[in-house]
Amino acid sequence: MNDTDKLWAGRFNEPTDAFVEAFTASVAFDKRLYRYDIQGSIAHATMLARQGILSEEERRAICDGLTAIGERIDSGEFRWSIAREDVHMNIEAALTETIGDAGKKLHTGRSRNDQVATDVRLWLRDEIKQINRGIGRLQKALLDMAEREADTIMPGFTHLQTAQPISLGHHLMAWFEMLERDRDRFSDCLKRTNIMPLGAAALAGTSYPIDRHYTAELLGFERPAANSLDAVSDRDFAIEFAAAASILMMHLSRMSEELILWSSAQFGFIELSDAFCTGSSIMPQKKNPDVPELVRGKTGRIYGHLMGLLTLMKSQPLAYNKDNQEDKEPLFDTADNLRGCLKVFADMIPAIRPNRDAMRAATLKGYATATDLADYLARRGLPFRDAHEAVGKAVALCVEKGCDLAQLSLEELRGFSDRVGDDVYEVLTLEGSLAARDHIGGTAPAQVRKAIEQARWRIDQN
Ligand code: ARG
Repeated sequence: MNDTDKLWAGRFNEPTDAFVEAFTASVAFDKRLYRYDIQGSIAHATMLARQGILSEEERRAICDGLTAIGERIDSGEFRWSIAREDVHMNIEAALTETIGDAGKKLHTGRSRNDQVATDVRLWLRDEIKQINRGIGRLQKALLDMAEREADTIMPGFTHLQTAQPISLGHHLMAWFEMLERDRDRFSDCLKRTNIMPLGAAALAGTSYPIDRHYTAELLGFERPAANSLDAVSDRDFAIEFAAAASILMMHLSRMSEELILWSSAQFGFIELSDAFCTGSSIMPQKKNPDVPELVRGKTGRIYGHLMGLLTLMKSQPLAYNKDNQEDKEPLFDTADNLRGCLKVFADMIPAIRPNRDAMRAATLKGYATATDLADYLARRGLPFRDAHEAVGKAVALCVEKGCDLAQLSLEELRGFSDRVGDDVYEVLTLEGSLAARDHIGGTAPAQVRKAIEQARWRIDQN
């Protein structure tokens, strides 16, 4: 170990225990923040020079030096050192090696505590924007499919039992809406992420005449954080991100579950493209829906990261504590997996082949128009409860005979209520049932098309 590597070694007489050095180092994972670390440092140095705290010459040396280090890291030439603990000290030490004493002035009026909080916020800001683009791409794929399938009839379920006929396009638009709220949640989280900790220094602020508004402006932050203790310590923005991520994954897991069910031989509603499935090493007939299964599985680990971050923050006294070094890996893993899940879903959706006949046959099997018959009787003056009872009995007869409601004769139907007229068969058709639900949010294909049109307009707004 080389203790000249330690930028804080002044008050220490003994070298760090070798294992402790490795145990406390974060460079293996936080080096990923280097671009943001350099961006933050350049803004900080620029502000220091404008305030007369650094000379123009020093500023230029620092900024050029940092840019050169960034290029070395980009090209893979840079040598990271565990003895230098984290991304911040690796870059700062390399800067001093490169430009000499001016490098030692970069940390004036700053601490790693406000520095790391700034880096993470800058990084997360970019990630959130990318994730929202990924959600938007998936939403567009859903809109295109919903448009193609607005007239496709499938069983709508409650309790996973056939309930009423719906349009497949309507079902897909339900997914769209879930994702729309997810996008909104991330945008909201971005507002609280985009606040600048720099200037809080270690915890109390700094005695230098800094201009935090200027640094914030340089970095595109909304404003400087209002309280230095809070700025360096809280990771609630990260927790919010993990919460929004968990809810998004919960939604993706629900979509996954349905795709898995629908692609089974028993449902046979859709076929997933071979490109998104794998086979079995023993059962030659198998085509497994791995992609949705894996997305469903990854939901668990994202929930885990949310719990991890909440627990990490729990009961931490003000201000910064080293505990917070543990925020990075769960955050990185969350963002990476989210981007991956969104990409694979957006690629998979356009390649789905719906089996319209199978969906129609399944809808016909489940007495899906029973409610329509009850509504019909109620419109003809029978109180709804009595209509419900009468149709229930008609369904029981169908079960016994092994037929559908529309296959009962007029006489048989009239046996349950004399209000049945010969126009009854119109309401028993699947198309009639769908078309009747013709209001905002309903499943009538005309409404589904309107919803799609409005949705396109909504996503084009941002
Ligand atoms: N690597 C540290 C982290 O991730 C940087 C801040 C360290 N600050 C300190 N006072 N030890 O949180």
